[in-house]
Amino acid sequence: MHAVRVTAFGAEDVLEYAELPDPEPAAGQVRVRLHAAGVNPADTYVRTGHYAFFTPELPYTPGFDGAGVVDAVGAGVVSVSPGDRVFVSSLGTPGFSGAYAELAVTAAADVRPLPGSLTFRQGAAIGVPCATAWRALFQKAALQPGETVLIHGASGGVGLPATQLARDAGATVIGTAGSPAGAELVRAAGAHHVLDHTSAGYLDELADLAPDVIVEMLADVNLGHDLEVVARYGRIVVVGSRGSLDFTPRLTMRKEATIHGTALWNATAAESAAALAAVAAKLGSGTLAPVVGDELPLREAAEAHRRVLAPGTRGKLVLVM
Ligand SMILES: NC(=O)c1ccc[n+]([C@@H]2O[C@H](COP(=O)([O-])OP(=O)(O)OC[C@H]3O[C@@H](n4cnc5c(N)ncnc54)[C@H](OP(=O)(O)O)[C@@H]3O)[C@@H](O)[C@H]2O)c1
Repeated sequence: MHAVRVTAFGAEDVLEYAELPDPEPAAGQVRVRLHAAGVNPADTYVRTGHYAFFTPELPYTPGFDGAGVVDAVGAGVVSVSPGDRVFVSSLGTPGFSGAYAELAVTAAADVRPLPGSLTFRQGAAIGVPCATAWRALFQKAALQPGETVLIHGASGGVGLPATQLARDAGATVIGTAGSPAGAELVRAAGAHHVLDHTSAGYLDELADLAPDVIVEMLADVNLGHDLEVVARYGRIVVVGSRGSLDFTPRLTMRKEATIHGTALWNATAAESAAALAAVAAKLGSGTLAPVVGDELPLREAAEAHRRVLAPGTRGKLVLVM
């Protein structure tokens, strides 16, 4: 089979398209013939060897998320059968062989039915992004119906499902994007108000609409401003941050605001299972419909890693096999 292989940490060009032996499913594992894999920003951090949460053993195949058809099952697996359409969400599962590949093996618990209404490309956009959106909104911020939520960076892999889920939960949703195309997707995902985070003073538009909850994709840029606009007793969930900032702690006092950090890697097994079960239910009901943006062939993983960090996001970037 073909897969992307990393034999040394470094820049994008360490992602090599290679021929590898087909992985065999052990007991309790499933082998999936993947049609698409999700490209998450975290994949790029891991590739450098300086990811905050873990460093994989070399060589490795990147990717946590994918979708395809069950190809073979190991002893004891009864939850899925060969021929089933599935999505794979394998965050940190021991024994997972990596999603940037034509075939992947993982624990049966990481493989779930893909609703017939969704394409494989959409299935590859579920795992990390949708679980993160659920965790931020409900497990961290405890968003309630009738509250107002600002999704700061709503046009991306996490932001669009967060917008769909928050709208479904009965919140007033404000989403930001940095391009007209991204803004259009955020509106289509259900945001009541869309702001352009590249235009000066854009948060001034929130004067009459203080968010109870802010889901923040770029905290090093926005956290200070978030504390200015958040409602009293508001909750800010830091999902993404790529640097540091000069910060005035007194801002948290003025609003008695709470800042939650979140990272999927810290979720307990019960929290992960709950998030995935909730996401699966919302996919089944049609509430959650992953939005796929750019698609690149598997062999162009290096270009995908460059593109996933570039501005102008229009949904989820996927690799197709
Ligand atoms: N904590 C966790 O467990 C976890 C899980 C998943 C992802 N993350 C992190 O969360 C972030 C978003 O992930 P993703 O998968 O959604 O990435 P993505 O698909 O690349 O989207 C990035 C988003 O950030 C937006 N953005 C750019 N500049 C911004 C600004 N100044 N203010 C607000 N938003 C801005 C982009 O908007 P435009 O391109 O339209 O400007 C886009 O909506 C990344 O840093 C990622 O590493 C964390």
